[in-house]
Amino acid sequence: MKTTISQLQKHIGETVTIGAWLHNKRSSGKIAFLQLRDGTGFVQGVVLKNDVPEELWSQAKGLTQETSLWVTGTVQEDNRSKLGVELLITDLEVIHESVDYPITPKEHGTEFLMDHRHLWLRSKRQHAIMKIRNEIIHAIYEFFYENGFVKVDPPILTGSSAEGTTTLFHTKYFDEDAYLSQSGQLYMEAAAMALGKVFSFGPTFRAEKSKTRRHLIEFWMIEPEMAFVEHEESLEIQEQFVSHVVQSVLKRCQIELEVLGRDISKLENVKAPFPRITYDQAIEMLKEKGFDDIEWGEDFGAPHETAIAESFDKPVFITHYPKDIKAFYMKPDPTREDVVLCADLIAPEGYGEIIGGSQRIDDLNLMEKRYEEHGLTADAYNWYLDLRKYGSVPHSGFGLGLERTVAWISGVEHVRETIPFPRLLNRLYP
Ligand code: 4AD
Ligand code: MG
Repeated sequence: MKTTISQLQKHIGETVTIGAWLHNKRSSGKIAFLQLRDGTGFVQGVVLKNDVPEELWSQAKGLTQETSLWVTGTVQEDNRSKLGVELLITDLEVIHESVDYPITPKEHGTEFLMDHRHLWLRSKRQHAIMKIRNEIIHAIYEFFYENGFVKVDPPILTGSSAEGTTTLFHTKYFDEDAYLSQSGQLYMEAAAMALGKVFSFGPTFRAEKSKTRRHLIEFWMIEPEMAFVEHEESLEIQEQFVSHVVQSVLKRCQIELEVLGRDISKLENVKAPFPRITYDQAIEMLKEKGFDDIEWGEDFGAPHETAIAESFDKPVFITHYPKDIKAFYMKPDPTREDVVLCADLIAPEGYGEIIGGSQRIDDLNLMEKRYEEHGLTADAYNWYLDLRKYGSVPHSGFGLGLERTVAWISGVEHVRETIPFPRLLNRLYP
């Protein structure tokens, strides 16, 4: 019977066949251990010299790394393995022999592995990270569908910038200028006025000359936008959302978290509500922690975010940033004009900002004033003003960066391992 590694537990005592690759191998005088993988998981296959025909034994001993196979065997319970089973092999058929596979079990440098990303993905660690990424994606859709959000897909090719002009990817759109989307937010605001609560989930492009462990040139962003929702309620939705994602991974990715050696106790704690501090309080905290030269009005860098996060064992919201360091569309605090109703959510353990969000300006006059201050040409943004002309309502939204979230939950140091084919400064291959 044909099955997959993930299903083996349901077939204890039966003889099954799987399609697999040889991940690794070791053998002693009378026994060969074949580490097999099939995409759904990893399992140990055992060949016993005394119990199989001579040709099968010598074939097993000669198998090379990443050779593809049809493997037939009896499923046996094995409490030492993560999967709880191993396969006692009775037959092997080579589909394709792999010769001189470049990624051997020894250590390789990062650049070498990045050059072989198309093969590196087969490793146990990368497999675990991709499975966690998949579960995070699943939990995100689950949360929004269960909470009445409608998925809306904003355009990738746009005629204007949403998050400032310094990181735009330019291209020609026939005779016009166009840019790859930096954020679908402005379109999502239009969609919220049509559908109430909406979310997008798509690729985002930032021509950022930053070479850090948190920055990708192409990343995936989830952007919910909610009509009739103000700042405070948006924060409550964000903390519910992030808790749901973390708890889903804990529940459904136990094997993968173990492969990665993730300290699970740090994740178990991630349940709403999350702490909130204002930008003003954050500045004070930083001064107390020895950042003497930080001044009110400056944006935070990675070391600042990490220092603040250290004081909390959950993600922390930093709210009410100065208006001058935030985007043009953020609504000023009615009690204090120099700060805006916004929040960044900072992940624990030094993973940095995973969400940026705000309540949006809903007043037409104020928005027109911001256009002037920011030198936005009305041509490209006219339609966005219409949202403030015809039945404007209070509304809020936010953007979660998928790869930073995967890095944090997986406990992976650098975002380059959290996306199948990372686009980095100076890397477009493979
Ligand atoms: O804070 P950002 O720039 O916010 C926006 O784009 C808003 N328009 C979102 C909204 O309100 N709808 O980006 C949101 C998140 C960040 O918190 C971060 O997690 C991620 O996107 N992000 C990046 N991830 C990887 N590489 C980069 N270069 C990133 N830039 C932002
Ligand atoms: Mg931000």
